[in-house]
Amino acid sequence: MSTTTDDGYSRREFLGSATLTTAGVATGLAFHFLRPKAPDLREFGENPANHVRMGYIGIGNRGGSLMRSSFQAPGCLPIAVADIRESQREDFIRRVTPRKDEFGKIQEGECPTRKPEGWKPRAYDDYRKLLADPDVEAVTIATPHNLHAPMAIEALEAGKHVYCEKAMGYTIGENQDLVDLVESKPQLVFQVGHQRRYSPLYQRVKQMVDDGLIGEIVAIRSQWNQKNVERRPCPDPALEKVINWRLYSEFSGGLATEFMSHQVDVANWLLGTHPDSVLGSGGIDWYTDGRDTYDNIHLIVDYKVPIPGQGSTRRVRFTYTSLMQNSHVGPSELILGTKGSIEVCLSGGGEHFVEPGAAEEIDTLKEALESGKKVVPAAGGPGGVQKKAKAGATLVASCLKRKPAAVIVPAENRGHWVKFTKPLEGAYDTGETFLAVGAFLDAIRAKRAGKEEEFKKALKADVHVGFWGAVPCLMANIAMREERIVRWSEFFNGAS
Ligand SMILES: NC(=O)c1ccc[n+]([C@@H]2O[C@H](COP(=O)([O-])OP(=O)(O)OC[C@H]3O[C@@H](n4cnc5c(N)ncnc54)[C@H](O)[C@@H]3O)[C@@H](O)[C@H]2O)c1
Repeated sequence: MSTTTDDGYSRREFLGSATLTTAGVATGLAFHFLRPKAPDLREFGENPANHVRMGYIGIGNRGGSLMRSSFQAPGCLPIAVADIRESQREDFIRRVTPRKDEFGKIQEGECPTRKPEGWKPRAYDDYRKLLADPDVEAVTIATPHNLHAPMAIEALEAGKHVYCEKAMGYTIGENQDLVDLVESKPQLVFQVGHQRRYSPLYQRVKQMVDDGLIGEIVAIRSQWNQKNVERRPCPDPALEKVINWRLYSEFSGGLATEFMSHQVDVANWLLGTHPDSVLGSGGIDWYTDGRDTYDNIHLIVDYKVPIPGQGSTRRVRFTYTSLMQNSHVGPSELILGTKGSIEVCLSGGGEHFVEPGAAEEIDTLKEALESGKKVVPAAGGPGGVQKKAKAGATLVASCLKRKPAAVIVPAENRGHWVKFTKPLEGAYDTGETFLAVGAFLDAIRAKRAGKEEEFKKALKADVHVGFWGAVPCLMANIAMREERIVRWSEFFNGAS
C-alpha cells in the first residue's frame, strides 16, 4: 500500500531501508527519513517547449549575478550578451560554451541546458543589436540606472520579455511611461529587480503582518549603513564614470535609488500603498572626491494608510538613513506595531518581538493560525500594559538590553525546483535573486501557455511594484536638493 503525504510523495519513496519499524511509522519517525523525490529537471530543461531564450544586457556585478542565477534555472537557454566592455562579452562566451572534458565527453559550460543543434552564443557591443536578434526572447537589464528605462522601453517595443533592475526609471516621467507601455503589452512579462518579494523570509514577514501578529503598523524604521565609500578601483581615469557611475547624478539617483528603493519597496508592500510625501536632508559631507551624489541621506517618508473598516486614513512614517561612514546596523527594516515588532534583514534573518501585555493575545492568535482556524485579528490600539518607569542607572542599563524575540522561520516549499538545484557560487546574493530569476522564467512559460493564474503567481515584482519603488526615491532626491516636502500629488492625481 502506498499512502501519500502532505507533500504529495508516497510514503514508500521515503522509506529507503526496511529498518524502520511499523512503530516508527506510527510515531511519525518516518518524517525524519523523508527525502523528497527530485523532479526530473534535466528532462524538463531538455524539452525545447520549456526553453526561455535569454539575452543579457550589461553583465557587470549585478548582471553577472542575474546571468549565473538564470543558468541554474531549469530551461534557461543563453543566447546572447550585450555589454560595452569586451571583457564582459568574453566572459559570457567562456561561461556558456560547451567543451570536451578529459574523457572527450561534451560538457555544457555553466548553463547545464543541452544546447540545440546550431546553437552559437553571440556577443554584441551594442544592446540594439541584441534587441534585433530574433532568437532572443527575454532580456535582463543590469546597466547604470539612467539606462534602465530607455533600454527597457526599446526591449518591450522589440517584443522581448524584460527583467529590469531596480530602481526602475531614472525620472518620474520614465517610470510612468514604463507603466503605460507594459500595460499596453499584456503578452509580455515585465519584472523589476525587487527580489525581496521572492524571499521566503520576507514573504513570511508579510504574512505575519497581515495575520495581525504585530497589530497595526505604527512606524517603520530602516537603514542601509556601510563603511564603504562606494568607489570602485578605476585603472584608467577615462573610465571613471563608466566604473563609478553611482557617484554621478547624470547616471544615478545615488543612495536613494541604489539602496532605499529596496527598503521603500518593503514598506510599500507591508503597508499596501505608496508614500504620500517625502522630506529629508543629505549631503556630500565626507567624500569630497568629485562625486555629486550624497554620501549620507536621512529621510522621513509619510504614508496615508487606510484604517480597516473606517473609510479614513492614518499617517504612518517610514524613517530612513543611509550612511557610508558607519556600519553599526547594516541594511535592515524594523517594523513597529501596536502589539509587537519585527526586525528583518535579507542576510541576517528575522525576529519577532511582542509588546508587554500583548503576549497572551499574540500566543492565542498564533495557536489559532497554526491550527488553520480563520481569525480576524482584534483591532490594534495602543494596547499593552505600560511598565512603570525605573529610575536612574537601571533605566539606562535596561535601554541597552534587547527584549527576547522569536526567530522567524520562513515557510518551505518542498515542491519547487529550487529545492533541488543550487545557485552557482559567486552569485551576488544567492537565495532570493535565484528565486526571482527563476520566477521570471516561470512567468514567461505561463504567459506563453496562456496560464494567467500561474503567471500572476510567478510575477510578484511587476511594473507597479517598480513604480512605487522608484518614484519615492526620486521624490527623496528632489526633497533633499530643494530642502522641502515633496508630495506624490505634485506628479500624480489620485491612485497610480
Ligand atoms: N537588485 C539588486 O539587489 C541589485 C544589486 C546591485 C545592483 N543592482 C542594480 O543593477 C544595475 C547594475 O549595477 P552593477 O553594480 O552591476 O553595475 P556595474 O557597473 O558593475 O555593471 C554595469 C554593466 O553595464 C555595462 N554597460 C554600461 N553601459 C552599457 C551600455 N550602454 N550597453 C550595454 N552595457 C552597458 C557595463 O559595462 C557593466 O558591465 C544598477 O541599476 C544597480 O542599481 C541591483
